Amino acid sequence: MNCARASLCLVALPALVSLGACGNMPAVLDPHGSNAQQTAQIAWVLFWGGGLIFVFVMALAAYAVFASPAHRAWLGRQNFVVGAGIVFPIVTLSALLFYTFKVSGELVGAKDAAPLKIEIVGEMWWWRVHYVDAGGASVLVTANEVHIPVGRTVELFLESADVLHSFWVPNLAGKLDLIPGRVNVLRVKADSAGVFRGQCAEYCGAQHAKMAFHVVAHAVPEFDAWLAAQQLPAAAPRTPTLERGMTLFIANCGACHTVRATPAAGQLGPDLTHVGSRLALAAGTLPNNVGTIAGWIAASQHIKPENRMPSFDRFTGEELRALAAYVESLQ
Ligand code: CUA
Repeated sequence: MNCARASLCLVALPALVSLGACGNMPAVLDPHGSNAQQTAQIAWVLFWGGGLIFVFVMALAAYAVFASPAHRAWLGRQNFVVGAGIVFPIVTLSALLFYTFKVSGELVGAKDAAPLKIEIVGEMWWWRVHYVDAGGASVLVTANEVHIPVGRTVELFLESADVLHSFWVPNLAGKLDLIPGRVNVLRVKADSAGVFRGQCAEYCGAQHAKMAFHVVAHAVPEFDAWLAAQQLPAAAPRTPTLERGMTLFIANCGACHTVRATPAAGQLGPDLTHVGSRLALAAGTLPNNVGTIAGWIAASQHIKPENRMPSFDRFTGEELRALAAYVESLQ
């Protein structure tokens, strides 16, 4: 981190603490996509422009206080008052207005003839993710993780199933609300591969803070491989334990969750066909491994109170282990 960035970090620390530690650049100031780059550019222009004007005004104020009356007389002349008090703000603010019109016009303009289309539905408190083809037909349903190819414009169609949410991946774009009964379109384009954390940015109830997600940007061949793998049906259980886990899953979880190629076809909760391949559980709440899966099944209401999944605390230890091992095996 260079000196200017370090000092900015100190000044802005309270506001930025929730968005990333100063050891790494906060995500809002670390753009990895054209949309975020333009937003960051506006922020830097405003920051440095405002800083320069502030220093200039403070210097004038010091001069007005400490200079001798003969030297500072020009500060009171009408020409100076009109120039600095009226003409300068009008010129500066008008220039800023046209500059932001220009950049925000570029932000909302289409950037790609054939963008990748993804529908994202905010639900209390997770994200349903549909990949659709050019005609709008569903290609893949997943949850809480949005994979995109580097260098291609992605159109995110944002909808809500219940209340207001807001989709925000600071590394890639500004935030955009998900409004019940409306479809808002956010265009993003990642310039480099990486994993970028996103967060619901509109208060939406008890677990708003635990409504996170990840955007994973891949080089095009890896993205194509990911999409093909995700379209495959669920892996068949390879051991008796996993088979036992699948039986338990279908009986207890299948009314709410889908695992393609099994009788589990519920639509209330996230599609779990390839849940084992995801980075996190419960919308960014827990790392994803067999232990956290078991903990989530047994105590989801303890971990994320009021979420729609009840705590399944009636399983024996053996049953819980088999169920968690099966869920983890859904790679
Ligand atoms: Cu959804 Cu906050």
